Amino acid sequence: MHSSASIMKLSLLSILIIISAACANSTSLQDNFLQCLSNHSQSANPIYEAVYTSSNSSFSSVLQSYIRNLRIATPNPLVIIAAKHESHVQATVICSKSLGLQIRIRSGGHDYDGLSYVSNVPFVILDMFNLRSININVSDESAWVQAGASIGEVYYRVAEKSKVHGFPAGVCPTLGVGGHITGGGYGNMMRKYGLSVDNVVDAQVVDVKGRILDRKSMGEDLFWAIRGGGAASFCVILSWKIKLVAVPETVTVFEVERTVEQGAIDVVWKWQQVANKLDEDLFIRLLFKPVNGNKEGDQKTIKASFVAMFLGETKRLLPLVNESLPELGLQEKDCVQMRWIDSVLFWLHLPVPTTPTEVLLERIPKSESYLKRKSDYVQEPISKTGLELIWKVLTDINEDVGMTWNPYGGKMSKIPETETAFPHRAGNIFKIQYSANWKQGGVETTNRYLNSTRSLYEAMTPYVSKNPREAFLNYRDIDIGSNSKGTYQEGRIYGIKYFKNNFDRLVRVKTMFDPDNFFQYEQSIPTSPS
Ligand SMILES: Cc1cc2nc3c(=O)[nH]c(=O)nc-3n(C[C@H](O)[C@H](O)[C@H](O)COP(=O)(O)OP(=O)(O)OC[C@H]3O[C@@H](n4cnc5c(N)ncnc54)[C@H](O)[C@@H]3O)c2cc1C
Ligand SMILES: *[C@@H]1O[C@H](CO)[C@@H](O)[C@H](O)[C@H]1NC(C)=O
Ligand SMILES: *[C@@H]1O[C@H](CO)[C@@H](O)[C@H](O)[C@H]1NC(C)=O
Ligand SMILES: *[C@@H]1O[C@H](CO)[C@@H](O)[C@H](O)[C@H]1NC(C)=O
Ligand SMILES: *[C@@H]1O[C@H](CO)[C@@H](O)[C@H](O)[C@H]1NC(C)=O
Ligand SMILES: *[C@@H]1O[C@H](CO)[C@@H](O)[C@H](O)[C@H]1NC(C)=O
Ligand SMILES: *[C@@H]1O[C@H](CO)[C@@H](O)[C@H](O)[C@H]1NC(C)=O
Repeated sequence: MHSSASIMKLSLLSILIIISAACANSTSLQDNFLQCLSNHSQSANPIYEAVYTSSNSSFSSVLQSYIRNLRIATPNPLVIIAAKHESHVQATVICSKSLGLQIRIRSGGHDYDGLSYVSNVPFVILDMFNLRSININVSDESAWVQAGASIGEVYYRVAEKSKVHGFPAGVCPTLGVGGHITGGGYGNMMRKYGLSVDNVVDAQVVDVKGRILDRKSMGEDLFWAIRGGGAASFCVILSWKIKLVAVPETVTVFEVERTVEQGAIDVVWKWQQVANKLDEDLFIRLLFKPVNGNKEGDQKTIKASFVAMFLGETKRLLPLVNESLPELGLQEKDCVQMRWIDSVLFWLHLPVPTTPTEVLLERIPKSESYLKRKSDYVQEPISKTGLELIWKVLTDINEDVGMTWNPYGGKMSKIPETETAFPHRAGNIFKIQYSANWKQGGVETTNRYLNSTRSLYEAMTPYVSKNPREAFLNYRDIDIGSNSKGTYQEGRIYGIKYFKNNFDRLVRVKTMFDPDNFFQYEQSIPTSPS
């Protein structure tokens, strides 16, 4: 009797579930969600000012404003909450969770595969662009920055307060502080100061229960995970407390190009021997692009560009380069001295000093492209024969598909792999970014560029890290695996590439803080299998 009664109860329950699922069409789901939001709205900070549905006239422009890759198909969120107050973030988490809706959290929208604003299950976008205050305390050498601030705004505000402070983060000024920092945050001061995550001292987040926590109340496990592990698997970042770093009043930059005919092979080969061992004040990035040969009818050739940031003056830089990389033939006339804030413009290929630093406050780029990015790490120098083979692949592709090599060493080698969730530390000579950019959409063009990028990546297999073939979370790449059901097995495939041995600890933190896997997306950290 007892057991058949419980079977009855069970089947009644399943019928109820089936009925409610059938009734939960997207209109009513949306209505329930909006109702729930308004139930959680505070009268002093009404949430309706932050809520956009497809019936709001600006829905589409809000949706499109923070898409930084034209390749990503038009997303289809039920609702966008462009939070204007912390309570809006709390309400969004509580209501999405209670109604079984996924959220996508977007700060600057630079995710290379659009994972901050697309999904193929019903979802809402939690947009952070309205929350972008920056409070700098120079005497404390620190700043609280909200997730929706751009990295360009941070640079500008720091420089406004001090000539001798900066912050180590990425090159592109429109990057959102929310996503950029939590993925690591990589830039040209990284050999001296490490990544952005190595310079974060506190954070404010909203957890799955809708509580606002800081470093003390969240504890060191979660604080560890959000520094490099991708916060979108755990919580919503409201703000970071960052540590400013010292920069000299004058820095030096250069960009020197060498084609194969000008001896690029020898310089690049030598660069691999020294780039990660140079003085920590010096960062020399290397870019490769196929270019036309000198004369008409000449074959395509490769141009290598050496772009450098030096935290010091030319007179100290020249002997350093002359000693370690004489093959480059660097001359005084190649070097330009400027303020640190102007060097940010130089790295954007903007003329210095004629460009006003206010361009760093522009939140939307002037032009946009269709993009694909992938990443690799290199631990052994590539032989000259290898270089020739790689360049042949690049010239055969014959399109705007290139590679950037970013030197490691310095501070990066001194920070243990387990210090933060970002694991790619000692042992690397450089990191590769593969990049394809194109200006015209269409399935055929897109497939051609994707295919070319993947072929180049395939051709690089012998020269890069193995078991796992490591990848950089901020260079989001859906090709390395994705999660359709939120299982541990699926998550492990991309998880160990992004996080190596830190993956298991991330899974434990995830299981502790979000056991029901609410903060789930295509490349999120899964919960424990059992
Ligand atoms: C033009 C360009 C240049 C780049 N240059 C660099 C570079 O120099 N160095 C470098 O390291 N990277 C670089 N990147 C990569 C960039 O760091 C990542 O795309 C980063 O995730 C962008 O952050 P975002 O807030 O703009 O992106 P978003 O697309 O908004 O977010 C990216 C990821 O972070 C999550 N997220 C965003 N905000 C929050 C939040 N508040 N709480 C929790 N999770 C959040 C999202 O859900 C998503 O998973 C570049 C990207 C582009 C497009
Ligand atoms: C969806 O639900 C709403 C409200 O419950 C109802 O008015 C509408 O007809 C439903 N639409 C569909 C397609 O079932
Ligand atoms: C909102 O609050 C009302 C009144 O308290 C309650 O009846 C309703 O169920 C709530 N709706 C949601 C979706 O939370
Ligand atoms: C969107 O439309 C609704 C209904 O008209 C309105 O209440 C809300 O304030 C609008 N959202 C914004 C952000 O203006
Ligand atoms: C700045 O930091 C100093 C030193 O920690 C502290 O005493 C001061 O109160 C801070 N100022 C503000 C405005 O927070
Ligand atoms: C570079 O080094 C060589 C010897 O290693 C020296 O002869 C030469 O003067 C140096 N040049 C510069 C510009 O420092
Ligand atoms: C993909 O690229 C490779 C190498 O460039 C080429 O051989 C292959 O035909 C391409 N495939 C498609 C589908 O374009």
